[in-house]
Amino acid sequence: MSDPMTGERKRMREPGTCVVDIASGELTGATNRYAKTLADLAGVYEDEAAYRAMLEKMAGTVVYEVTSYTPSNDAGDMIIGVTRMLPGKIGREFFVTRGHIHARANRPEMYYGESGRGVLLLESPGGDIRTVAFGPRSVCYVPPFWIHRTVNVGPDPLVMTFAYPADSGQDYDIIVKSGGMRSRVVDDGKGGWTVADNAAYRPRSAETVAAILAQTE
Ligand code: PA5
Ligand code: MN
Repeated sequence: MSDPMTGERKRMREPGTCVVDIASGELTGATNRYAKTLADLAGVYEDEAAYRAMLEKMAGTVVYEVTSYTPSNDAGDMIIGVTRMLPGKIGREFFVTRGHIHARANRPEMYYGESGRGVLLLESPGGDIRTVAFGPRSVCYVPPFWIHRTVNVGPDPLVMTFAYPADSGQDYDIIVKSGGMRSRVVDDGKGGWTVADNAAYRPRSAETVAAILAQTE
């Protein structure tokens, strides 16, 4: 006869808690961490000369960092984390994360603003664009199938908490393959931001779009 207690020990994970340290932009007690310098973001910004000039000034500086509590990558589990991104611009374009679609494209995400002013830039596989401005205490919903990246449009570090299904995965190539996202978030010259077309953008084929949207698992 199977032992129900052994079964329970195998099945159950331990609860946990982490503290969002807004000043450092870190999740205290995180199990995973990665950081990106400007050098890691080659090809992301439109103004190559401005990018190279900024690279000289910021060599080695971490532009954004992600700390997360990742209990597992199992279906049904959840990853919780914090991103901290410096303020800044490359030419007229605000600092961004690389951006991705979830490798299992039908997985959603939640963002919660902790400090700073951000814009969530989303693109559907077919090339529709949405922007969601957020600040402290905003809870943002990233629906399944949207490519997403975060933009720091304020003068201070942007800190946000996120949570997503643990088996989502990230596909960064989708953006690289199409020459970037269709839109860029740029300075409007009046202290705010606006959206501009990305001249290098190449739309995905109808077959590629259909294959992404056909994902059900
Ligand atoms: O899961 C997300 O969408 C975010 O937590 C991002 O991973 C995070 O902001 C870092 O961005 P990127 O994955 O583009 O490096
Ligand atoms: Mn994501």
